[in-house]
Amino acid sequence: MKQLAGAGALIATSQLPAFAEDNPEIFPERGRYERLSLSYGVVHIGLEKPFSILHISDSHLTAAYEHENEKKQKLHTRRTKTFGGRQEEALADALAWAKQHVDFVVHTGDLIDWQSEANFHLVRKFFGDSYIGSLGNHEFSPDMGYSEPKEEHTEAFKDRTRDLLQSVYPFDVRFQSQVVNGVNFITLDDVYGYVTKEQVKRFKKEVKKGFPIVLCMHVPFFSDDMWRANVRFWDDKGPMNYSALPEIKSAYKVQQEDKVTRDFISYLKKEKLLKCILAGHLHYDVQDQFSPTCRQYVVAGSFLFHGEEILFI
Ligand SMILES: [Fe+2]
Repeated sequence: MKQLAGAGALIATSQLPAFAEDNPEIFPERGRYERLSLSYGVVHIGLEKPFSILHISDSHLTAAYEHENEKKQKLHTRRTKTFGGRQEEALADALAWAKQHVDFVVHTGDLIDWQSEANFHLVRKFFGDSYIGSLGNHEFSPDMGYSEPKEEHTEAFKDRTRDLLQSVYPFDVRFQSQVVNGVNFITLDDVYGYVTKEQVKRFKKEVKKGFPIVLCMHVPFFSDDMWRANVRFWDDKGPMNYSALPEIKSAYKVQQEDKVTRDFISYLKKEKLLKCILAGHLHYDVQDQFSPTCRQYVVAGSFLFHGEEILFI
């Protein structure tokens, strides 16, 4: 695995910074790694060189330096409470575990909760130059609710800070491919639910290379079952009633209404090289069968000391 600084590379755990060490102050009476809540999956490809990854997402770092503006200070106070204040420890723990147990790490976005100098420095501190992942909707957020103009779910809104993000994150923030042990890891930005024509074009070019593909992105491609879980988790409308599908909104609606995305999803369902989709954004674990060859794994937030190990064999 060669390190491709500036070009993006799946982060090899051997290259993770040494600061990510076991921290005995958290849950000190528990077993060494029991403070991490891990789930597991296996993707059967028929590889000559099997390997495993730690998939984490949604760390929601909420750091701000004292010299940063008042909006950032307010966000720091408010959002640190929201996410429990231990996001950095949780991330360090996950990376320490990964360094000892798996070959690579994939992060599927919302590593930061909003843009700040301090958060950007943490991105580099935790992942260095050899980091592949996908951005989340929060990466594109200058000040969350305090933003002027209001955040829009458009490419034009992303363009306001895309160059800034590109200067911080060491991979192509729109679309990146990296072949690891004969598996093509493709990461793309779908943070508002849709994909662009350009991304579809680049994906189809990658398919021509003939490698099995793992697609990594922030927002999953929803199924009805995943949508039920979403409404349950985020709206909590009392006893579960699965007889009727709850009204489809937000990213799931976008995926159904945006023609480019809808066509891309139909195309992917028939693409046999697609073996696995890794996503986050939802803050709960959910999996389902995306297509005959591909299972989709959505991992809950790393701020909850959570991650999932996926074995590729
Ligand atoms: Fe998100």
